[in-house]
Amino acid sequence: MAKLSTTMMLLVAGGALLSVVAAYFITSAPAGNARIQLMPNDTELVSLGGAVYVQNCAACHGAALQGQANWRSRMANGRLPAPPHDETGHTWHHPDDYLFAVTKYGIEAMIKNTYPNNMPAYEDQLSDREIIAVLSYIKSQWPRKIQRQHDQISQRSSNQ
Ligand code: HEC
Repeated sequence: MAKLSTTMMLLVAGGALLSVVAAYFITSAPAGNARIQLMPNDTELVSLGGAVYVQNCAACHGAALQGQANWRSRMANGRLPAPPHDETGHTWHHPDDYLFAVTKYGIEAMIKNTYPNNMPAYEDQLSDREIIAVLSYIKSQWPRKIQRQHDQISQRSSNQ
């Protein structure tokens, strides 16, 4: 009996040690290095993203992601209209982390230059998860072939 309980104690202690070690490895992944990754096949995330899109982006980028009319020509005030987010625009030419940063911090912060434009920064309105969700929703609307090309663009950029 005494022998059995020693074995039990060892087992329990071993288990506790293992979970401490596991917790260390899980929590010690440096947050700053976490790569932004869009997940167009995650249906829960995409449905959240669809709702975020309707509320925050559709007014400019269009309910069907079609963008504003004549989006390639500057308006009288020198600013560009909102480009489409469907496959006819250039959103899919940019890797995941670029799209995330533009949406979170705005275009001026990305290019580190003064550039008056109509794209708002969503840092104070949307959580990181909501930003990843809305961009995943946008990606989920692209044809498969464009999604695959975009996977490669993001892959290349994360290898740099
Ligand atoms: C008030 C209008 C407006 C709203 C609302 C808006 N955008 Fe934009 N967005 C723009 C304009 C205008 C540009 C192009 C700016 C430029 O290049 O001068 C742009 C550009 C972008 C780009 C860069 C595209 C590229 O190809 O470089 C992304 C990404 C983007 N918007 C995402 C979003 C998302 C996601 C939302 C909603 C959370 C959103 N935008 C809401 C006006 C808007």
